[in-house]
Amino acid sequence: MFKNAIVRIPGSNFDAGLTTVSLGAPQFDQVLQQHARYCAALEECGLALTTLEADLRFPDSTFVEDTAVITAEGAILTNPGAASRAGEVEAIRPAIHAFFPWTLAIKAPGTLDGGDICEAGDHFFIGLSHRTNEEGARQLAAHLAGMGYTSSIIDVRPMTSILHLKSGISYIGDNALVVMEEMAACEQFRGLDLIHVSEAESYGANCVRVNDRVLVAAGFPELTGELRARGFEPLVLDMSEFQKMDGGLSCLSLRF
Ligand code: GLY
Repeated sequence: MFKNAIVRIPGSNFDAGLTTVSLGAPQFDQVLQQHARYCAALEECGLALTTLEADLRFPDSTFVEDTAVITAEGAILTNPGAASRAGEVEAIRPAIHAFFPWTLAIKAPGTLDGGDICEAGDHFFIGLSHRTNEEGARQLAAHLAGMGYTSSIIDVRPMTSILHLKSGISYIGDNALVVMEEMAACEQFRGLDLIHVSEAESYGANCVRVNDRVLVAAGFPELTGELRARGFEPLVLDMSEFQKMDGGLSCLSLRF
């Protein structure tokens, strides 16, 4: 069960962040509305929020998930792979240390974004991406092993449609993995109960199990229907403005 989440209000320069998609500029009033609804949804799931002020030094800093990997055994601060985001870890450090006074860290030349890390029970999938390099993955695997977890590496660098590993997969508990079609044949997923997401709904693959609910982006009826068929009551959230900046549901919070 998660009890807490850390979120950061988007800054007025959110549209100056990094993006690889061409969906137009985010509308700031809608960004704030969607973020507020997201925060309310986390509270509906029973989480107590630590809400950080907007930080205009870092336009992408609302995507707090990239700054840390938090497990039941402790927190690991990351070293984000994009130069413009490297300072985000120092900025969020006090908020993480309020819960985890002692943290591990990914150190240069290792780089790692939290969006590339998918926890699946006692196993972690680590994505190699244009943000997370081999050295970052190696350091994380060692930290996780020290905590008693196993891990395996998935190279998503050839997949041009996703930024991070978790843009394409989500573990929702009970051995079930939501997976975009392009990644469904990945041999590391053998033995998992795969919930296939069609190409037309691939953005929906970044959903988030939070206690007994699953947060799902709006506009993906097949996936939402499948989750309902499995007994979940999905919390459907409009993510249009975050999608424009390569962001997804998981990126917007650190949950623990
Ligand atoms: N805009 C999110 C990222 O590129 O990290």
